[in-house]
This record gives sequence, C-alpha cells and structure tokens, in this order.
Amino acid sequence: MKITKAIIPAAGLGTRLLPATKAIPKEMLPIINVPAIQLIVEEAVKSGIKDILIVVSQAKNPIIDHFDYNYELQHRLIKKNKKELAIMVKKIGDIANIQFVRQKEPLGLGHAIKCGKIFCGNDPFAVILGDDVVKNPPNEKPALKQCIDAFIQTNSCVVGIQEIEKKMVSKYGIVLPKNKQNETEKIFALKGLIEKPPIAKATSNYAILGRYVLTSDIFKALEETKTDQSGEIQLTNALKILIKKGKKINACRFTGKRYDLGSKIGLVAATIDYALDDQEIKNDIIKLIKEKVNKFNK
Ligand code: UTP
Repeated sequence: MKITKAIIPAAGLGTRLLPATKAIPKEMLPIINVPAIQLIVEEAVKSGIKDILIVVSQAKNPIIDHFDYNYELQHRLIKKNKKELAIMVKKIGDIANIQFVRQKEPLGLGHAIKCGKIFCGNDPFAVILGDDVVKNPPNEKPALKQCIDAFIQTNSCVVGIQEIEKKMVSKYGIVLPKNKQNETEKIFALKGLIEKPPIAKATSNYAILGRYVLTSDIFKALEETKTDQSGEIQLTNALKILIKKGKKINACRFTGKRYDLGSKIGLVAATIDYALDDQEIKNDIIKLIKEKVNKFNK
C-alpha cells in the first residue's frame, strides 16, 4: 500500500502573529528565504506524496501564487543572466501536483480537513499542518514518512506525536496510550485522545504535532463531530468518535526538531536553527549571537 495524497490545511487566521498575518498568510512567512509552506510541501514530497491539496481561505492567495509559475520573473531573471535563480523559481511550480480548495470560514482543523473529502475519495491520506515544520537530519526519514511507515506497518490510522513539557498540554491534542508500559515504543496503540486539556486532566505528555495518516472514514466521523465551545470542529474529536466505534488508532513518536511557526518563539527558533545550517551566513550568525549574548551577560 502506498500513501500518495496529502491535505495541508492553511486556512487559519494566524492571530498569534498579527499584525504580520494581516495581509500575509502565516504559512508564507519565511524561514530565512524559504516560506514555511514550501518546507512542508518538500517534506511531503520526500515522504512519497504525489498529490497535495492545500486548504486556503480568501486571504491566502499568495500561497496559490507561490506554487504557480511566474513567467515574468523567470523571463527577467534569464535576461539578467541569473539562469540558476530562474530554474529554482520554476521548480517550485513543478514540485508536486498541487490543488487548492477554499475553506469559506475558519471553523477549525476538522472542518478544514472536511474540505478534502472529494480530493481523497476512498484513499487513505496524510495530513500535515501548514505552519508546523519538522527538521530531520539528512540521514533520517522525514517525520511524515515515519508516520506513513507506521500506518503501513499497523494498517491503521496514525497520529504523529512527541513528548512535550507538562505545562504545554493545554495547547495541544493529547493522547491516552492503551498500555502505559508501551509508551517507550516508537509506535503504540491509543485508548483515547483529549483536545487541549487543562494540566490536571492531561492523559499523558504526548502531544499530536501536525502529522496524521488517516483513512476515509474520518469524513463520516467529522460529519458527526459537534462544534466545540469556540465554534470549531476539531480533528481530535472526530478521531475520538472513530476510537469509540472500535477503530484502531496508533501514535507514532516521530523524531526531528519541531517548530510551531504560528507562534513567535517557534518562528524565531526555526530562523536561528536554519540560519546555523546555512553555510552562506552561518559564521556571521554565530558571531552575531555571541556578541548579543556577551552584551546581555554584562
Ligand atoms: P492553528 O491552530 O495554528 O490556528 O491552526 P490558526 O487559526 O491558524 O492560528 P492562531 O491560533 O489564530 O494563531 C493549525 C493549522 O490548521 C490550519 C491553519 O492554517 C494551520 O496551518 N487551519 C486552522 C485551517 O486550515 N482552518 C481552520 O479553521 C483552522
């Protein structure tokens, strides 16, 4: 079995990064010189995904433009003898078969996934959030590929997880492992899930972090999912319905450094880490950080 389809929800409001996100989609904010969503699409492609559906809203047209050709720019770059840049710009338009669908109202992640029902048909598919970047070293499988392999191995739905600090649990979907003792394994079965629990109610320290591999019965579960207190349809609640119906769901503890690019700290941390990997600017960045730290310590 192969997973070749992925949905990338990118229609959220991005309120945590306002005013930057007033006119620019947060998914287009760059990590150095590459928009976050391009890193996400590249991870999907490296994981074997061929067909991608990006869920956008009215305010997200720059995402559509980014994955299109820009003939005028290509033409001007060639005229200026910058053929390599022209090739790089064109390549972004050829990266995968990318389609777009509009989520007309930001009614939550579950609602955004529902917009992909026709695209997925009866095929299993991956979900990778448009603002959630995971950096894996070149010798390691991308986080999404690790989740896809777990899906193939267990023949059941998979949520990608990592351990987080206890104080952060109320920001994420938190899993309840079926057997406590299996928690140290890379893949383990789930008994339940809870969306953004208060610390006292958290069933573990394992948070679902932006990667899922799902079967098409999630769409029926999403139809049955009630809106929460904030008026949103949560994917976690639809997964809970599937578990209640006896469907097996596994967690895959993927490796890699994960950044929430929808948050200020995630954006800054990713920028620093990617800059330290960029040979062109690495030494200048180290010098700059050293200077700042020294000044700060004085
Ligand atoms: P977030 O939970 O970060 O929500 O969404 P948000 O609304 O975008 O951001 P804040 O909290 O207001 O700052 C996680 C992912 O799901 C998408 C977002 O675009 C992001 O990639 N999403 C969220 C949708 O596509 N539709 C929605 O209704 C909500």
